[in-house]
Amino acid sequence: MNKYVEVLDSLVNDYESIDRPVFKDIKAVDLTNILDLKLTDQGCSLEVLHRSLKDFMDYSPDVSQTGFHKQLYSGVNEPALLGEWVASLTNSVMHTYKMGPVATLMELEVIRQLNKLVGFEKGEGIMVSGASQANLIAMMLARHRICPQLKKEGYQGRSLVAFVSDQAHYSMQRAANIIGIGENNLIAVNSDENGKMDPENLRFCIEKSIEQGKLPFFIGLTAGTTVIGSFDPVMPCNEIAKFYGLWLHIDGAWGAPILFSERYKDYLSGCDQADSFTWDAHKLMNVPLTAGVILTRETGQLKDCVAGGGGNYLFHQDENSAFNMGELSIQSARRADCLKLWSSWKSEGTQGYLKKIETLQNKKSYFVELLDKHPKFSIIAPSPFLNVLFQFKPSNQLHESELRALNVEICKLLAASGGAFIDYACFKGRTGIRAITCLRENFSATNFGNTAIPVPAHTASSWELKLHVSSHSSAPPVSSENHFAKGR
Ligand SMILES: Cc1ncc(COP(=O)(O)O)c(C=O)c1O
Repeated sequence: MNKYVEVLDSLVNDYESIDRPVFKDIKAVDLTNILDLKLTDQGCSLEVLHRSLKDFMDYSPDVSQTGFHKQLYSGVNEPALLGEWVASLTNSVMHTYKMGPVATLMELEVIRQLNKLVGFEKGEGIMVSGASQANLIAMMLARHRICPQLKKEGYQGRSLVAFVSDQAHYSMQRAANIIGIGENNLIAVNSDENGKMDPENLRFCIEKSIEQGKLPFFIGLTAGTTVIGSFDPVMPCNEIAKFYGLWLHIDGAWGAPILFSERYKDYLSGCDQADSFTWDAHKLMNVPLTAGVILTRETGQLKDCVAGGGGNYLFHQDENSAFNMGELSIQSARRADCLKLWSSWKSEGTQGYLKKIETLQNKKSYFVELLDKHPKFSIIAPSPFLNVLFQFKPSNQLHESELRALNVEICKLLAASGGAFIDYACFKGRTGIRAITCLRENFSATNFGNTAIPVPAHTASSWELKLHVSSHSSAPPVSSENHFAKGR
């Protein structure tokens, strides 16, 4: 094992010390020619393997740099990484308590703490591959409640219909496909100008589906939408859910950690009344991919809904069978993902996460303030959370299609410069640059990895602008007390 640990040590050293672009824009055909990918009859030396692993690192986007804004995660969380390494070393599996005794108890503690934050006093839950699976399970739970016989008998002509906002994540569409209600029976309820689900339109859509002879069963709210980070209003939607007897789910994949903060947790007021809740620890909690969680308000629903089979060889009845989490899961083999989340939480404490959320919210606000003051930037949508969707808008004469082309090109130029990997996104017909402002605390709110926003060559030079401001009296303080998601 030692020689492999030496290789790991050397790779970690390189990862931390080598100055590499945040993103290398290279065509797949060219990369295929550069890399030694062929799997051959004869095995290779450790040196060859080492080189290939180094290539892997060098050509992967560097998610730990401050210029990485492409996805809703970034950085390296060291205590979590340590937990991840130990989980791989022991290769524990989570079918039964016996196969993963400590892992099972750790997972139960993580679930208990998350449920406490949501307000599910008698809740349970399980770790899943990610929020997409959590949303899928939520839809299965809702279907099981309205129609328990469906688990055995199938749909038998029933036409079920689910409701999410037009800002919901595409995993809801996938879930509608997988559970077999059909994508057309996932209704996109209108969102308002703040990107929040409109409760009146929700009521209207439910009524309409009833008139069409369909069976409504599920309302999926989003806490922290993918593009602008808005939070659907829980209380009015919960009233509607209760009135029609529908399951209320909250997809908190991105925004759930707001619950750590006394100052901001009101965004999710009433979430304790929902039936289920998705939480993705691999996003804002920065544990290595993947670490999703599905939580339920009541206990017993998961097993009721998903369990089946395995009793004759795996799920034996013994004094620990109540701890066999495998019967709550749609997976068979399941990694001990709890270890990385538990390690991070144990190391930083709940207070560490609270501080992180509040620091990042401060930085986001400062960034928004700068954009607001700048004559050539326009903010496209409100930023209640850590997403900031803004446009470079050098002139009021430009049409939306021209602005879109310009902003898309800026994203490409930033990536090509190797300075920042950032994406564009569209909200209510306007396309802008989506900054995930502050996934790490040493991120300077005023730059994109020290890269000024480049101006496409064909645009007038007077459009040039630099967002880079190295110091500012109202800049929020940089907290460096914990190990979350270190940036470089
Ligand atoms: C709101 C929301 N829900 C669900 C998901 C899917 O998460 P995962 O990639 O963990 O399946 C995302 C991913 O960005 C998301 O933003």
